[in-house]
Amino acid sequence: MIKIAPSILSADFAQLGSEVSAVEAGGADWIHVDVMDGHFVPNITLGPAIVSAIKPHTNLPLDVHLMIEQPEAYIADFAKAGADVITVHAEACTHLHRVIHMIKEHGIKAGVAINPATPASAVQEVLADVDLVLVMTVNPGFGGQAFIPRTVHKIRQVRGWLNEASLFDVHIEVDGGVTTETAPLVAEAGADVLVAGSAVYGQKDREAAIRAIRSSAQN
Ligand code: DX5
Ligand code: ZN
Repeated sequence: MIKIAPSILSADFAQLGSEVSAVEAGGADWIHVDVMDGHFVPNITLGPAIVSAIKPHTNLPLDVHLMIEQPEAYIADFAKAGADVITVHAEACTHLHRVIHMIKEHGIKAGVAINPATPASAVQEVLADVDLVLVMTVNPGFGGQAFIPRTVHKIRQVRGWLNEASLFDVHIEVDGGVTTETAPLVAEAGADVLVAGSAVYGQKDREAAIRAIRSSAQN
């Protein structure tokens, strides 16, 4: 089953409560929350205070994507704020295994992300430790960028390793440039959680947008 995780990066930040409720009503599975620090990526977005502010507006899992340096310093804050999944970048963690287990100590799901230029092998040694692998299909930092096709083979590679190790519960999430055109490519390669920012929040009818992406991926 494909999960759709609308990214609130493309939502109206002055209306986050209703923007989150709108995609829940429209059939979203998770809410994707993009945290950027102006160091790991060239943009600044939001912190734990916003996560706790949106928490009461949805029953969906909050999928927090940390595009920040030293993520270990902020895990407790985001867990306390109501994150259900915390994903850190492999490129930002010297001690990736330790950081993943720090997340799990809070009783929530742990994910590891890789940028387009990072080989899939960067996550190979921690596949048994994570709940999710996030394969970035754009360079993180902004919504509305074009999908990088070269990244798709990494989804296939990671799914192959997970299958070989019988790790059937680990999600593969894809983030960046997901549309009704690109969703079938990533789903076919083995992704099961699709983040979509502009493709959902750029449309007036969020329910139709979510339905279109889901059905394109399931064909
Ligand atoms: C990119 C963020 C994405 C972003 C995706 O740095 O991690 O989650 O919101 O936006 P779209 O779907 O518009 O590419
Ligand atoms: Zn993201």
